[in-house]
Order: sequence, then C-alpha cells, then structure tokens
Amino acid sequence: MRTNYPFNCWYIAAASEEIKTGLFTRRVLDQPVVMFRRGTGEVVAMEDRCLHRAYPLSKGRIEDDRIVCGYHGCTYDAGGRLVDVPSQGNVPPGARVRTYPIHEKSGFVWLWLGEPAAARLRPPPRIPWSAEEDGWGKSLEVSSVRANYLLLHEHYLDLTNVFHMYPEAAPPDIHTLPPLNEVEVSELSVSYSRQTVPTRPASWEMDVAGLAADTKLPRVEEGIFVSPALHVQRYIVGPDGEKPYVLLRVQGFTPESHGATHVFLQIQRNYAITDDSVTGYLRTMFHEMGKRDQDVLETVQQQLDQETRPHRDLNFKADRAAIRARRIAQQMVDDERFVLR
Ligand code: FES
Ligand SMILES: [Fe+2]
Repeated sequence: MRTNYPFNCWYIAAASEEIKTGLFTRRVLDQPVVMFRRGTGEVVAMEDRCLHRAYPLSKGRIEDDRIVCGYHGCTYDAGGRLVDVPSQGNVPPGARVRTYPIHEKSGFVWLWLGEPAAARLRPPPRIPWSAEEDGWGKSLEVSSVRANYLLLHEHYLDLTNVFHMYPEAAPPDIHTLPPLNEVEVSELSVSYSRQTVPTRPASWEMDVAGLAADTKLPRVEEGIFVSPALHVQRYIVGPDGEKPYVLLRVQGFTPESHGATHVFLQIQRNYAITDDSVTGYLRTMFHEMGKRDQDVLETVQQQLDQETRPHRDLNFKADRAAIRARRIAQQMVDDERFVLR
C-alpha cells in the first residue's frame, strides 16, 4: 500500500524524558529505530537491525557509546559503523548501520527519516505561540492510536465534535461553535481561528484557572497544522482582558505505520504554572478526553479498513482546515514519489 505520510519531514520520535540511559526503540514511518544517549547527552538514532542477522540492536546493550548486538556481539559505534566482530579479527570495510539526523529541542526528540541532505536544509518546526519558552506550566502524555495520522489531524482541526463528545467541557452559554473566522493557508501550513460570545466558565475552567462562576468572558480558539508532524491549538479565555488565560495543546503526530500513530500530547498553560495539582488535573482531563478521541478514531479506521467499495466523504464548512491539511500532506508525498528509499 502506498503510504500517505511524507518521509522528508521532521517527526517527534520521543519525548526527551523517554530516552534515559538504555536503548530505546520505536517504530516510526514503519521503520524500526533505536535511540540512545551518548555520554555527552546527545541522542543518536539508527536503524534497529543488526547487519549480521535480523536481530534488533535494541535487544543488545550499550558499552562506551557503542551498541553491542545481543545475538553474536557485533559492535557499532555512535556513527553506525561496525567496529567489532567477535568471531573474527577483522571487520568488513565500510559496514555500517543507517543512522538518522536527530534534533532535540524543548523536551522533544525530532527525527528525520527522509533524504539526509534535505534534513540540513530545514530545521524542525518551531512550536508556535512561544510554547518553547519558560513561563508555562506543562504536562505530557505519550500514547498510541490505531488510526492513520491524517485522521488525527482531521479530528483536531475540526472541533465541532466537542459538543457531542465532551459536552461537560464546553462553557455553559455556548451550544454550538461559531464558524471559523478565518482559515489561513501558506504553502505548507494551515491555521484557523474562531471567537465565541462572552460566556460563563465550564467547571474545569473554574477549577484550573480559578474563574468565578459568574465571570462572562469571550474565548478565542485557534489551531495550526504546522506540518504533517505537528498540530498546535491555542485556547484563550478573555483574550482582550488584562490577564488572558492561555492553554496550548501541542500534539506531535508521528505515524508508526499506515494504520497507527504515536501521539505526543503536551498541555501548556500560562496560569498556575507551578501548581502541580493543576498540572495533574489537566493531565487527567486531557487523558480522559484522549481516550474518547481514540475510541472514535480507531472505530473510523476499522470501518475504513473493512470498506469494500470507495466512499466519498461529505464535507462541511468546518472541515475546511482539515481538507487543506490533507492536500498539503498529499502534495508532500507526491513530491517524493520518485525519490529512492
Ligand atoms: S545478529 Fe547481531 S551479531 Fe549476529
Ligand atoms: Fe467534521
């Protein structure tokens, strides 16, 4: 099956905190990848397969920044070079496991599986709205959804499902979302925003932001499809006031395979930033919401997998941003069609 994700794109392979002292493996774009930290702290990524037999290097061990295969003991340095074959004195010249460019930034380990030369031309995307700076309270969850990554983008680029899926999270005076104020498209990204009429807070907003039950404030909701790997959403309560309450939902979507996606969900806020109970509250709340999203998305994927005749989805105005995002991803995939991998 032809995949619908581009290779020439930076994807989040891991949260920084996941890569500790041992070998860490994750399947990304249907490739097995092993990662570890060198003594210097720098993360190294290579194909998770020994050159000798089809045995994952991640089942071996690290010795002085080198990976020793757990089967017959072949040893590879951090550049992927085979440097020792225990059963013989010499090493076949030029034998080398494929290594991949890595960029670690703001708590995420970005990985490039595309053409190596192209990686140097562009850095991983900046996470918009200053999310990479200090001054934010953060919580993180890494999970996996058995659905194609574009179904996830589509889901989060159209929040009109909120009233059906999480009515308890919607502010009490709003029963439907206003139409998108704008959808902006650049060559490689899509962004949209919408503003609500002033409303009283939902109970979670009272709990985490300390809003009084009778405070009436408008809300702005904005989202950006930054790249096929990243979606960021910003939710602002009282955008024109003295102290806007900003919540960011940073989501790395990394295809594991055509039908499965790793999700790196980081919730950031500009209020109560050192309050661990607020961090825990938001982590639990978004975890529960994520479970419901997962259930719907996996059901859609199963349905798609079982369809025996092609269907054309009906689209509505609220789907504009998602349709653009699909087109961008498709264009990136088409552009790579003739590239060898
Ligand atoms: S399979 Fe790795 S050394 Fe033989
Ligand atoms: Fe929709």
